[in-house]
Order: sequence, then structure tokens, then C-alpha cells
Amino acid sequence: MEFNIKSGHPEKQRTACIILGIYEPRRLSEIAKRIDKVSDGYLSSILRRGDLEGFPGQSLLLHNVPGTLADRVLLIGCGRERELGDMQYRNIISSAIRILQETGSLEAVCYLTELNVRSRGTAWRIRQAIEMAHAALYVFDQLKTIKQNTRRHLRKIVFSVTSRRELGLAEQANREAQKISEGVKLAKDLGNLPPNICTPTYLADQAKILCSLHENLSCKVLLEKHLEKQGLNALLAVSKGSIQAPRLIILEYQASPTKDAPFVLVGKGVTFDSGGLSLKPAKDMDEMKFDMSGAAAVLGTISAAAELQLPINIVGIIPAVENLPGGKAVKPGDIVTSLSGQTIEILNTDAEGRLILSDALTYAERYKPAAVIDIATLTGACVIALGKHAHGLLSNHNPLTNDLINAGKFSGDQAWELPLWDEYQEQIDSRFADLANIGGREAGTITAACFLSRFTRKYRWAHLDIAGTAWLSDKKEKGATGRPVPLLTQYLIEQSQTVIKELNALEYKK
Ligand code: BES
Ligand code: MN
Ligand code: ZN
Repeated sequence: MEFNIKSGHPEKQRTACIILGIYEPRRLSEIAKRIDKVSDGYLSSILRRGDLEGFPGQSLLLHNVPGTLADRVLLIGCGRERELGDMQYRNIISSAIRILQETGSLEAVCYLTELNVRSRGTAWRIRQAIEMAHAALYVFDQLKTIKQNTRRHLRKIVFSVTSRRELGLAEQANREAQKISEGVKLAKDLGNLPPNICTPTYLADQAKILCSLHENLSCKVLLEKHLEKQGLNALLAVSKGSIQAPRLIILEYQASPTKDAPFVLVGKGVTFDSGGLSLKPAKDMDEMKFDMSGAAAVLGTISAAAELQLPINIVGIIPAVENLPGGKAVKPGDIVTSLSGQTIEILNTDAEGRLILSDALTYAERYKPAAVIDIATLTGACVIALGKHAHGLLSNHNPLTNDLINAGKFSGDQAWELPLWDEYQEQIDSRFADLANIGGREAGTITAACFLSRFTRKYRWAHLDIAGTAWLSDKKEKGATGRPVPLLTQYLIEQSQTVIKELNALEYKK
């Protein structure tokens, strides 16, 4: 699909379809008023007859509207103008694209990007529109022998901006949206693949492919023997019950002209989580193929950052394992010595994410990072606390927390902070080792983060628990979401802007 930006009058568009907004109650948007004028009140007469109230989700497809050069005019309900915020706008765009796809249109010019969204500018509206369009058009049918939707016409969507002056900004927003959407698609595809295909080895191969596409991106894969030699025993313990070999995948993106300290992204890559000997119940166990969504988000984000050529350094670290029961599997009560030297009593083999992450987070120390962000489908408790809308966010550094929350707000991929107070730390005390891998029934998301915090004392760190947000479970829309690629990429874009500003300041001093 091709996405373009244009500024121009709606009545002059020679296209298959133009898309206009109608507010509730039966009110024309600014652009719709123009079409109403050239058509001698055609639109207002339709609204008067009661065919479209303007409720969100409503639509009306018109053909041969007088005074226009377009084959069709698609009217989209936008709700009340005063109430048009981020969420409403995103929903309006999604439904418009879905409805458009059902028509026979080859291309369309969409004027919904000119709507007034509360405290949002043109660049934001274009970015969101293009990302929502990509999301609405996403299909995962690699493994279906009979593909549906063979009757696909739509080739191109043009989004409109109010004046030529805005074209530059909008083009940049288009570019960002394009690359972020590709990153989201990569993460979705990896998440949706079945666990017999997407194994730790497969993830490593995908990382290598990604690195082969970019000059300044390189890849290192540590095999089981390397992990043994270096002492990543917490990671190895998880992998022992499976015949799938573990991998530690490391990606290095180097594009910073000055700042050498990299941003490190650590993604949980459990390609299937059966729980191990602490076996999970059968219901919905298939969804544990998504337990590598953190890893997928790291690959998607690095892909977007490299495509955008952000002038910073980024390291991706992906501990990849399969968690299965077996004759060699780790047992409740086993104690291992992690890479950090701290001993861990594994009281529940289903709390495996924090085990592999602990070694990966220790491994991250060697990069002397500017910040470390780990991304993990870590706790069922987070699904209970925040549901499917917000990631859980816990961190040892307030400015980093703020940056991530703001990047989440801007990108429509929100995170919500939970407290990482010392009071919770005693819940992971162990009778027999330095710490236990579970902290009891209370505050499960926080005690999981407390566990990770024992391995992140040497740098600025934030943890995103994406257990509720990485995939959707409802039958109709079941599948990976590609989150938090938009949040992370936005965060990195903003960090690069800081770098660019610093560089300019240096230039100025010279
Ligand atoms: N991958 C799961 C967390 C999870 C569960 C994510 C359900 C999404 C939906 C994780 O490895 C896990 O099993 N966590 C346990 C921890 C517990 C044993 C302390 C959990 O949340 O039940
Ligand atoms: Mn588990
Ligand atoms: Zn897990």
C-alpha cells in the first residue's frame, strides 16, 4: 500500500473516493462544508433526512456527488467535535480504512487528517493516521493455504493537510509512520508465528537477516556452550527441559557521531512457555507462543531505528529459550548461580522470564549503557492490574520514567507506572539462596520487577511489563499487537533529537 501526503481542494480531486468527516449531531466538518457548497447542499440534505447522525463508527457511501470529480464520497461519523481526542481520532481512522477497503476503490483521498484533534498538530495526525491504516490492513495468512480477501482493490491512500506549508512536517511524519509500521509488522509476524516455527534458533536467524539489511547493524549469537562458559546459569536453567537450544542474541546498531553510551533494549524471548514442571493449565496455553513478544519488540524497534537512521547507538539483547517440562528440566527448589554471582532459588519454574532476563540484564552492564529498557510478557498479574490498554512500567530512574510515559502518550502506545518501592523487596527473600524467583500472591508485577532490580543496580533502567498489551485474545481479533514498538521508537526518536541539538550547540560554539 502506498501512502501519500497532499494539500488541495476536495472538489478538485479526481479519485475513486474522498473521505470526509461528519460530526454529531448531523454536523458537517469544515471540508465537508466545501463539498456541500459545490454540490448545492447535497450533503446537508442527506443529513436532514436522517441517514447519518455522525455517531462514531457510522458511515455512508455516496456515488456521483454533484460538483465533485470523485467517483465516491465516503462520510464517516466522528462523534461530537468537542470530544475529539486521541482515542476517538484513532478509531475514526481505523473504521474509515476498513470501510474503504470494502468498497471497490483503487485509491482514496482522506480528509480526516484535517479534523481538529484536541491539542494535536498536523504531524501527529498524519503519523497516527498512517500507522492506524497499516494496522487496519494487517493480515497474517502465511500459513493458510486458502487466502481470504482475494478481492483487494485498494492501492493508495492520500492523506490531506490544510496548507502547503505543512507538507514538509507531514512528509517527515509519513516517513516515521512508515518505518514504525514496518517495525510493528515485523513484531506482529514473529509473535503470530506458531511455536514450532518460531524457536530460539529461528529468532536468531531473523536477527541475522535484519542485520544483513543494514550497514551499521551487526549481530552476535551466543550458543549454549558459550552461555555455559560465561555462566549464564539462570538462563540455562530455564532452557534445560527443552530440546530446543537456547540463544543469546545481541544486535549492535552504531550511528552516533558523538555519544557512545548506547541505549540497551532487552527483550524476553520465551518462544513457548508451558510453565515447565510448574505446568500451566491447558486452557489458552497456546497463547504462550506470544511469550517472545518482548524479543519481537526489540527486533521491530531496532529495525525502525535503523531504517530512520537515528544518530544514536542501540544494543538489543534477546535471551531466547523454550520453557518445557522434561527429564532434564529445572525443578522447584533448585538453586542456580546467576551471571551476576547472586544465587537464585527457583521456587516456581513458571516464573522463568525473570530468570532469563536477570542474566541478560547483567550482560548489559558491559556496554556502560545510557539507559537499559527491558520488555517482557512477565506477569499475569499485570493483565489483571492494567488490562490490555497500558503497559506496566517500573524503573529506578525518574527522568527515564517520564520520557517513556511521554513517548507512550505521543505514540498512542501508553505505559502506566507502578511503584518499585523498597517495601516490596522482602517478598522475594529466600530461605536458602540470595533471592527467590517468586514473591507470593500480592503485587505480582511489582515483585517481578523487584527481582529484576537486583540485577540493574549499575545503570538507569526501566522495565515494561507487556503481558496485557502484547497480544489480543478475543477470537475475532486474536493476535500480536506489535506493541511497544511505537513507544520505544518514539523514545529513541526523541533521544536522537537531544543528540542533534547538542551537536548543533557544538557547531555554534566553534
Ligand atoms: N509468561 C508468563 C506471564 C503471562 C501469563 C503473560 C499470562 C500473559 C498472560 C510468565 O512467565 C508467568 O508464567 N508468570 C507467572 C509468575 C508466577 C509463577 C509468579 C504468572 O504471572 O502467573
Ligand atoms: Mn511462565
Ligand atoms: Zn513466561
